[in-house]
Amino acid sequence: MKVLQVGAEVFPLVKTGGLADVLGALPQALVAAGVDTRLLLPGFPAILAGLKKPVVVYEIGAAFGAARVRLLRGTVAASGITAYVVDAPYFYQRAGNPYLGADGNEWPDNAQRFGLLGWVAAQVAVGGLDSAWTPDVLHAHDWHAGMACAYVAANPGATVATVYTVHNLAYQGLFDAKDFHLLGLPIAFMDPTRLEYHGKFSFMKAGLTNAERVTTVSPSYAGEIATNEFGCGLDGVVRSRGADVSGILNGVDDAVWNPAADKDISHTYSATDLTGKAAAKAALQKTLGLNADANAPLFTIVSRLTPQKGLDLVLAAIPDMLAAGAQLAVQGSGDAALEKAFTDAAAAHPGQVAVRLGYDEPFAHQMIAGADAMLVPSRFEPCGLTQLYALRYGTVPVVRRVGGLIDTVADADDTALQADTATGFMFGPATREALALAVHRTVHAFHQPAVWAQLQQRGMAQNFTWSAAAAQYLALYRELGAA
Ligand code: ADP
Ligand code: GLC
Repeated sequence: MKVLQVGAEVFPLVKTGGLADVLGALPQALVAAGVDTRLLLPGFPAILAGLKKPVVVYEIGAAFGAARVRLLRGTVAASGITAYVVDAPYFYQRAGNPYLGADGNEWPDNAQRFGLLGWVAAQVAVGGLDSAWTPDVLHAHDWHAGMACAYVAANPGATVATVYTVHNLAYQGLFDAKDFHLLGLPIAFMDPTRLEYHGKFSFMKAGLTNAERVTTVSPSYAGEIATNEFGCGLDGVVRSRGADVSGILNGVDDAVWNPAADKDISHTYSATDLTGKAAAKAALQKTLGLNADANAPLFTIVSRLTPQKGLDLVLAAIPDMLAAGAQLAVQGSGDAALEKAFTDAAAAHPGQVAVRLGYDEPFAHQMIAGADAMLVPSRFEPCGLTQLYALRYGTVPVVRRVGGLIDTVADADDTALQADTATGFMFGPATREALALAVHRTVHAFHQPAVWAQLQQRGMAQNFTWSAAAAQYLALYRELGAA
């Protein structure tokens, strides 16, 4: 079976969030399961720089307003996965974020930039751009790749199966109707059953309506996006797909996230010997200027700073956390107001609250390894990866009862503790009080060494693997007739 995975990020070359981790790990897991899996990516500078042995597969010429577009093929050095790259300097050779300009606004030509990505993917799948390789399945990820499904659907002769995965329904790729002609699609697609969305057109909707199957990155989120509360205006569209929508949980890439072999942390450790974890905590406290205190439970956060992540609740609960004797460290970047609020909190509470702004992959490992507990208070969370990494590192997750967090963390209530199934702490309402209560429960458990050790061990024994996820995707591809 041949599968083409289409997306805009891939770890370790370009990453703004968990999507990159998924596109870094899932292809490798599928290859290990015997599937001939390739990637198709936009030619951002870091992707071109990381592509080994590139060859030109096809001179596409002028497309979508770019004078010269080429399809390259090479391998991603880190994983050895074969990748097609859409080389269109006019669209992709830009400094900074893949989606946003330096002013923080979306690039004004995103409809063309990601329309082109989807169109080239469809040309590989149905147009034979690489005469030596044609996929049986085209699997597109998030709105950036959603158009691939529409271009396949617009081609009556297409036999390729299409799957669309929603990583985050809140980012929809919504564009002005006046630009629809730039896509080169039949006007019939500017229809509420296809791309049209309240007078505009939506790349997320293109994926949702045109793919044969839709998946999300956790079973709970698959249910949630069919509701008004979590549907971001597209819940009706999701409901209309009925049983075509399912959830497949993300995994942990063991080659990147393993406390026993992690090159980014000061002291490695494993479930059988956690000595290194205590040393990692001491090192982290020192680096961050926190009080050197083994008895102060250290809560960390590694996150994009956006409204999704519920970090306003953490800001509100800082007094409760400090009153409970906890320390808080935040690593993140994003929203200017949140960056300032955490910077101010750190200045107001030296030794107890620390913040690291910016994106730093090795330091994220140190934050997760050195922490006692990891806070993920998200308002919504399609899957969430940092709580999975925390579990792997013996760091107890404290999470809101939502989305993928429900599917990956087991609350330490009395029953679960007695049954030895508990792995973390959960809270329901998105309020300061509910978060503070969860923090209090966590601190209480932290001061009972036997209970804490039990939580850490049960968490480290969890096994969220990419091979399990790959097996489920493979079963889905087979249901669509791919062999
Ligand atoms: P999302 O994709 O919504 O941002 P996830 O939890 O799925 O949330 O994935 C976030 C990924 O990004 C994780 O790998 C996390 O470690 C990483 N990450 C987030 N913020 C930072 C940061 N400031 N520095 C380094 N890594 C970060
Ligand atoms: C999105 C979601 C996150 C998920 C990630 C990878 O960015 O916000 O919950 O883990 O995609 O699937």
